Amino acid sequence: MSFYITTPIYYVNAQPHLGHAYSTIAADVLARHMRQRGEDVFFMTGTDEHGEPVADAAHAQGLEPQQLADRNAERFKALMPRLAISNDFFIRTSDPQHKRRVQEVLQRVHDNGHTYKGMYEGWYCPKCADFKVENEILEGNRCPIHEIPLTREQEENWFFRLSSFQQPLEQLYDERPEFVMPSHHFNEARSFIAQGLQDVSLTRARLHWGVEVPWDPGHVFYVWFDALLNYYTGLGYARDGEDLTSRFWPATYHVIGKDILKFHAVFWPALLQAAGLAIPHHVFVHGFLLGADGRKMSKSLGNVLDPFEVMEQYGTDALRFYLMRDVAFGGDGAVSMEAVKGRYETELANEYGNLASRTIAMVLRYRDGRIPAAGTDPQLAGEFEALPGRVAQLLGEAEATQALELIWQRVRRLNRYVEERAPWQLARDPDQASQLDQTLASLAEGIRALSVLLTAYMPDATARLLEALGSPATDYDAGRFAAQGSGARVQPLAALFPKHGS
Ligand code: MSP
Repeated sequence: MSFYITTPIYYVNAQPHLGHAYSTIAADVLARHMRQRGEDVFFMTGTDEHGEPVADAAHAQGLEPQQLADRNAERFKALMPRLAISNDFFIRTSDPQHKRRVQEVLQRVHDNGHTYKGMYEGWYCPKCADFKVENEILEGNRCPIHEIPLTREQEENWFFRLSSFQQPLEQLYDERPEFVMPSHHFNEARSFIAQGLQDVSLTRARLHWGVEVPWDPGHVFYVWFDALLNYYTGLGYARDGEDLTSRFWPATYHVIGKDILKFHAVFWPALLQAAGLAIPHHVFVHGFLLGADGRKMSKSLGNVLDPFEVMEQYGTDALRFYLMRDVAFGGDGAVSMEAVKGRYETELANEYGNLASRTIAMVLRYRDGRIPAAGTDPQLAGEFEALPGRVAQLLGEAEATQALELIWQRVRRLNRYVEERAPWQLARDPDQASQLDQTLASLAEGIRALSVLLTAYMPDATARLLEALGSPATDYDAGRFAAQGSGARVQPLAALFPKHGS
């Protein structure tokens, strides 16, 4: 089955930070998981380069918008391999092919009668590049997201008749309770729609940094329409000489943060309907990462967690693991270097890393480096049996933290198993040889199967461990706990998550 997953495309007026890393890692976990399951996956991320904030930031630095975009898009692109992101394409909205396709689609929306020319006046946030509706504005006419004062703006625009999509959107929400996940965000979007939709401006007359409106060349499209369409346009030119649209459209998952819910859950499906295009299956919404003090991360509060610093100290896998584990996916959560250290030492170094080294060391010592091909412990096997199915189901519902928790319960189970069976005692008694075979086969099989399931979260450490266990396969079927030890030869393994003073 085809599976197309996207991240938000990131504004190039800022440097990449932990929030960007978070969305991208979450999407990567899902993409890798689906590849393991043998799905035909396409995973796209990229940069959102038009609009007022980018033009303003460029001018403030004495640059042309394109120069700033080129410079910062490179930074986002370079971030991807550092985070072990397996994206199949990196889209930039200043790509000429993107611009052409945006014009085609929006021309169709215009031709289908969903636009009109009118005077727009409203409260505008330059940071969001968005007009705010009255009921979301904070006291003192401030932006609900940035808390900065909004400005009163007026201009002649082309409008998109969002209001005429009220009924079709209500129907969409009635028919597809899984369109937005988790469900509290579904309810939020639905009640936004139920309050009544106002038309939105589709073009900007004042700004030049954007995609030109083909039927009214003095205007450019409002950046959000240009940006949302990336999900569709990218498929047209990601592969030279090949159009992937029919293979991957509509998208399976759009992973986004809750700050951009309205655009994805309301504007986007309406726009697609207006253009006669199919609506994606799911919008997966995650919460905000907060500073250790529970407040929004900001440089001035000094509560920012820097992804590069985490990776330098603990590695990429640890950052990925930490973000998926410590902040319940879908909710908000505080993050800090302290908490990274705690999870790293307790869970990665002790519970997982140590289990792996102990198991391999015992196989080397007691069985000459070969995992016994003996039967595994049927009771333990029973405790693992439903796991791959449950993990697949949870990941299919965007429950990346719950899926990881289920896997981790088994990591802890194996640690208890070592203590219960005390292989070092069994090894002293030749009459217990078959018990020892069963114990070692079960332990090795347990960490092997768990590592297959953990591959999507921690691609590097799991690959090293699976290699050392002599069973490198990572297809999802390999995540089943087998009835028999593999019989493979193990290799000594350097600590997967070394402890270090910091
Ligand atoms: N360019 C738009 C998105 C267009 S998508 C068609 C945009 N860009 S952004 O650079 O501001 O990135 C916003 C996204 O980054 C959020 O939706 C979220 O996915 C992620 N995050 C940014 N800060 C975040 C946190 N503090 N916490 C979690 N994620 C956050 O909006």
